[in-house]
Amino acid sequence: MANEITALKRQQEAVGMNAMRALLAEQERVRSMREALQAAIFQMQGPMNLISAARDLLERRGAQADPALRHALNQAAATGQTALERLRALVPAVPPEAATPVNINQLLREVLELCKQRLLAGGTVVDWKPAPMLPAVTARASRLRGMFKQLIDNALDAMDSNRHQPRELRITTATQEQTVSVVIEDTGPGVASDLQWRIFEPFFTTKRAATHVGLGLAMVQEVVNEQRGMITLDPDYDAGCRWQVLLPIKYEDDS
Ligand SMILES: Nc1ncnc2c1ncn2[C@@H]1O[C@H](COP(=O)(O)OP(=O)(O)O)[C@@H](O)[C@H]1O
Ligand SMILES: [Mg+2]
Repeated sequence: MANEITALKRQQEAVGMNAMRALLAEQERVRSMREALQAAIFQMQGPMNLISAARDLLERRGAQADPALRHALNQAAATGQTALERLRALVPAVPPEAATPVNINQLLREVLELCKQRLLAGGTVVDWKPAPMLPAVTARASRLRGMFKQLIDNALDAMDSNRHQPRELRITTATQEQTVSVVIEDTGPGVASDLQWRIFEPFFTTKRAATHVGLGLAMVQEVVNEQRGMITLDPDYDAGCRWQVLLPIKYEDDS
């Protein structure tokens, strides 16, 4: 009887995990579409600004300026602007999600499960230290899941680039006053002190692959702000990166 119940429970868990994997895959797809479009808009904005500046310069010259050139630049600015607006309209919206009580330990376990393939392939040692008792945090669960996945993906990217070091991912949860604290540490190369602020900028990346567009930490910051939380990078930690995310237990949803 007990065996049967255990087997049934395991089966239910597997079904739940598959559903979540599918949901997360869909979210990743939408997110990468958003990122690709935002990157394209960002790339186009530079030359568009140049065209507008050149047009303004010619306008100021008034009658001296070549009318054909003025016309051409006006046309280029107008069509460019329309193209940008079309692209902006194509950026998929973030689906609305209600905030519910979330068990952060369980959520992190799910994220680790989702990263399992990559963790195993890289031979990464995971040191998972959940607090035995953790109060629930009112949050939008899939946003939080996506956020922790970004941080863990970054940690794994960093350790990929640092092949000679032992690869260790440490995740610790704790209650700290009225917040839940999550500390994520890796044994990658860490972030140079002059870049510690820049890494949050949208489109800032030090990675070469075209799939890394530098929007991960911008998204992390956005989700932490939504939760009225805080994220800090320990400047004194030099064995890699140490992030701390603080999430208030009580959360007033004002949206
Ligand atoms: N755990 C980490 N270790 C070292 N560098 C990191 C880590 N996390 C983030 N970074 C740095 O911050 C930059 C921005 O990260 P992110 O916004 O996620 O963009 P992306 O992952 O696309 O580069 C990375 O390119 C990297 O230089
Ligand atoms: Mg990233």
